[in-house]
Amino acid sequence: MILSGDNAAHVQQAAQALCSGELVGLPTETVYGLAADACNVAAVAKIFQAKGRPVNHPLIVHVADAPTAMHFAAQVPDFACSLMAAFWPGPLTLILPRKPEQAAAAAGGQASVGLRCPSHSVAQQVLKACAEKGVWGLAAPSANVFGRVSPTSAAHVQSEFSNVLLILDGGECQVGIESTLIDCTRGQPVMLRPGHISRMQIEQACGMKVRDPQDLDSQAPRASGTLESHYAPKAKVRLMTENAWRKALLALGPHTQNLALWSAEKPDESLLGAGLLWRAMPTQADQAAHDLFAVLRDFDAHAASIIWVEMPPHTPEWEGVRDRLQRAAA
Ligand code: TXA
Ligand code: MG
Repeated sequence: MILSGDNAAHVQQAAQALCSGELVGLPTETVYGLAADACNVAAVAKIFQAKGRPVNHPLIVHVADAPTAMHFAAQVPDFACSLMAAFWPGPLTLILPRKPEQAAAAAGGQASVGLRCPSHSVAQQVLKACAEKGVWGLAAPSANVFGRVSPTSAAHVQSEFSNVLLILDGGECQVGIESTLIDCTRGQPVMLRPGHISRMQIEQACGMKVRDPQDLDSQAPRASGTLESHYAPKAKVRLMTENAWRKALLALGPHTQNLALWSAEKPDESLLGAGLLWRAMPTQADQAAHDLFAVLRDFDAHAASIIWVEMPPHTPEWEGVRDRLQRAAA
């Protein structure tokens, strides 16, 4: 059932359901989450089951504000405090040492916990209503079946989980790709997943260089969003330069049935008539991130069997979109 996030009674109903151990589809500014009380072991188990996600893949715990994060974090290094101050509430998740007695199941048994304070007003209202009832954190992975495209609208969530009781509708997600994920447990910021908040913004806010997991020899924690193949639509995705897709289209001639193209440049009008499915890729990275998962879902809905995507520019602001496209194509 989809409830309006604009309706205060519906927000209360969702908070009540969460506090009773139910799952709720929750809008955030990045993507929709499948939320449960982070400290309720049975409720957390329902998330893993609904998603088909391996139980050792940790979930992010969402909190209303930075002080509430201290309920779960054993300690916060100075650079992580600077990041909270700069970007919370907002699309940034921090991996911090976990208080051993808190949210063990949600953390997938890791000694750390991923904490995020979302800025979406509906998520904020739900988190505050839950906190008033003594539920300090909501575990919420993206509300999609494991390995598939993340949802950016309430309708997407419903199409993934027809049996989820409640979905709060908070409109289309503004950011469109998952939060930037920074590991703060290794003495310096380590980028586990790029997102809307860029590497450069992180470095400016904390005055430290952002490292990549492969730069550090220790074993990286498991992160679903960092698996090589993830965010995959049903169709096969191929990343191509503009030159390459133009050549390939020429070679195909009129045989473009079930072929979809997401590109900044427009293909020949005559091909569009011949059955090629085309959507314009925005030239701004933020707008492309906003559209990305909805476009992949739209192509699936139109029964595309092959999706060609024009490789976005190799510039820093495109890092998050490039990352998701590479995993979709893997
Ligand atoms: O934007 C987002 O972050 C969305 C919305 C709903 O908030 N959530 C999201 O959750 O993307 P999920 O579970 O799909 O991705 C969380 C990522 C996973 O790659 C997970 O493995 C990683 O964060 N993660 C969570 N806790 C971790 C931990 N303690 N150590 C390492 N990685 C962790
Ligand atoms: Mg996910």
